[in-house]
Amino acid sequence: MSEWLKKYRENHADFDKGESLTDLGTNPFAAFSRWFDEAVQNGEVEANAFVLSTSSSDEGVSSRIVYLKEMKDERFVFYTNYLSQKGRQMAAHPHVSMLFFWPGLQRQLRIEGTVEKVSEEVSDAYFASRPRESQLGAWASQQSEALTDRHELIARFEAYDAQFPAIVPRPPHWGGFALDAQYLEFWQGQPSRLHERRAYVRHQNQWQSKLLNP
Ligand SMILES: Cc1cc2nc3c(=O)[nH]c(=O)nc-3n(C[C@H](O)[C@H](O)[C@H](O)COP(=O)(O)O)c2cc1C
Repeated sequence: MSEWLKKYRENHADFDKGESLTDLGTNPFAAFSRWFDEAVQNGEVEANAFVLSTSSSDEGVSSRIVYLKEMKDERFVFYTNYLSQKGRQMAAHPHVSMLFFWPGLQRQLRIEGTVEKVSEEVSDAYFASRPRESQLGAWASQQSEALTDRHELIARFEAYDAQFPAIVPRPPHWGGFALDAQYLEFWQGQPSRLHERRAYVRHQNQWQSKLLNP
């Protein structure tokens, strides 16, 4: 057995916290809210961080961590730079996947659907609520573009700090996306690898749910 595999086995506890997914209910958004609240209450680190996977025909699939900022009107909202790699990919290919992992609760949650930009007003309101440093950072960072060195970034930050001594307006290339889900899947670790999966699939605005093999 390799050293790596030995270390992994020493670290890995068998899953034993499982609650049954049969009583998760018929509304996947209510189930999401409950699991999210439980992740926060359970002290999961960065409970609102998720893996966002996007794609494009020439670059293939790309993944990175993003923060969920709210679930509003059954849509999952997050913010980014519209000109970043993910921003460009979502503009061209709006079908994306979100993935949460809450290891303390031995839970995984997959969400798939299509994104669209939130309204300018919603992005403005959220941008205005951010700390000044984050606002200036959104101006300074040409997200995903090559950077010569860190001084270049800091110099841009300082230039915008001087340009906007009072209110920092939202950069036009920065804002929110809202994901309209077609698929949510709840995964709960159970002993002996007999994990539970419950998938909710939307068919013509009706949600149907089914259990899946682990
Ligand atoms: C914990 C964590 C939270 C993050 N949250 C965000 C976020 O909310 N929005 C964002 O644009 N980038 C966020 N990032 C940075 C992204 O992972 C990524 O590096 C950046 O957005 C550039 O991605 P892209 O080049 O694939 O577009 C976060 C990174 C980490 C580790």
